[in-house]
Amino acid sequence: MSTESAGRPRPEAPRPLAVAVLAAGKGTRLALGDETPPKVLLECLGVPLLEHVRRAVESLEPDTVVVVTGYDAQRVEAWLADRWPHALTVRQIPQEGTGQALRLALEAIPAFEGDVLVAYGDVPQVRGEDLARLLETHRGARTAATVLSGRAPDPGALGRVVRGVGGAFVEIVEARDAAARPEVLAVTEFNTGFYAFDAEAVRPALVELSRANAQGEEYATEAVNRIAAGGGGVASVLAEDPGALLGVNSFDDLARAVSAVRRRIASGHMARGVHVVDPDTTVIEVDVEIAPGARILPFTHVGRGCRIGKGAVVGPFARLRGGTVLEAGAEAGNFVEMKGVVMGAGAKAKHLTYLGDATVGAGANIGCGTVTANYDGKRKHRTTIEERASIGSGTILVAPVTVGEGARTGANAVVTSGRDVPPGETVVGVPARPLPPGRAAKKQGSDEREEQS
Ligand code: UD1
Ligand code: CA
Repeated sequence: MSTESAGRPRPEAPRPLAVAVLAAGKGTRLALGDETPPKVLLECLGVPLLEHVRRAVESLEPDTVVVVTGYDAQRVEAWLADRWPHALTVRQIPQEGTGQALRLALEAIPAFEGDVLVAYGDVPQVRGEDLARLLETHRGARTAATVLSGRAPDPGALGRVVRGVGGAFVEIVEARDAAARPEVLAVTEFNTGFYAFDAEAVRPALVELSRANAQGEEYATEAVNRIAAGGGGVASVLAEDPGALLGVNSFDDLARAVSAVRRRIASGHMARGVHVVDPDTTVIEVDVEIAPGARILPFTHVGRGCRIGKGAVVGPFARLRGGTVLEAGAEAGNFVEMKGVVMGAGAKAKHLTYLGDATVGAGANIGCGTVTANYDGKRKHRTTIEERASIGSGTILVAPVTVGEGARTGANAVVTSGRDVPPGETVVGVPARPLPPGRAAKKQGSDEREEQS
């Protein structure tokens, strides 16, 4: 540990940071009905698109956040109040362009002076480090505006970054406004729509934006172009993975975004020593903890907030729903679904099993085809399977029920609710009842534990 030496000059305090998140758009091509959430609340790996953006934005520790809502504003605002309570919101109704949205965001913080970062609410792939690089470039370049751009052989409908002699920034031109300018459409550098601005420079540049364009909208890009034309200086930074910064405008885009985030999450686990055998067929949602050395086999879905211990094995074809816990060495094998389950150390459910709302003790073995009947049509109930209990193939456990330590159930037993199996006892049949004395010992010897095959 070293302490700050007295004479060292203190680093200049960074300028205050405000982030404007544009999230008013409808996403027309998604054809969302009343039942579906608005675009920014569509799910990506266990949380809404907007939650991913929130995490990236919050990693910068901004002083102020303004989210522009519009389409289905009430639902988006309800989510924000719950999950992002310190974000201010401003409504844009109707939605008449990114320039209008940004102007409204800045009008919501009239006294703010400092850097303004602009992000979109429908880009779940954006990482904190992308935003940090944009902001660092902006602060380093001391320009009035900085554009985060990307490169693609054919940027399609995206805005093009047009440069003059020596590569100096000239303007951003929307593809739809460049129909008669093939040289603009040929440009491979595109605008991601993420910017950093000096608040003092961007406010005046957003006043009375023209709507004389193909979309009849107010363009945020016009503010950038005005700053450039006025000599304010526009820098740019090329995104490392620009494909990962495109907004979701269709279910195809959503699939691409989810795929990018999914792959990144899996890579993060692999980098920490988790053996993900086939990340292309494995879905690991956000906030999952997996100990190094655990193995995740193909075609497996691990829900948000699951915890998987050292040496545990999941899959192939397993589904662990949100919050499931596998302690060290536990297994959830093929065609096993778990929901609200804690599997103790070394407990195994290797084939064709549904465990819902269950606590399974260390070393217990759950035979093929076991089902916890956790729902009575009205309420969910818990099942407790104690340490080293052995559940025979095809057993149905009607919750609430407890199978005691070291107890056993025979194949196809139906253990009815409230008829707990005492520790060490063996029950068989429908409804399950204890084996007559004498047979219990024999059964014990003949029944094969389903450890393997
Ligand atoms: C914009 C850029 C374009 C860039 C592209 C990258 C403009 C004029 N063009 O395209 O150069 O290549 O992003 O994706 O800015 N939004 C609002 N209110 C509105 C309109 C949009 O909040 O009135 C939000 C949307 O919810 C979305 C984002 O802004 O999150 C971008 O909107 P979108 O219509 O997809 O972008 P374009 O304007 O087509
Ligand atoms: Ca648009």
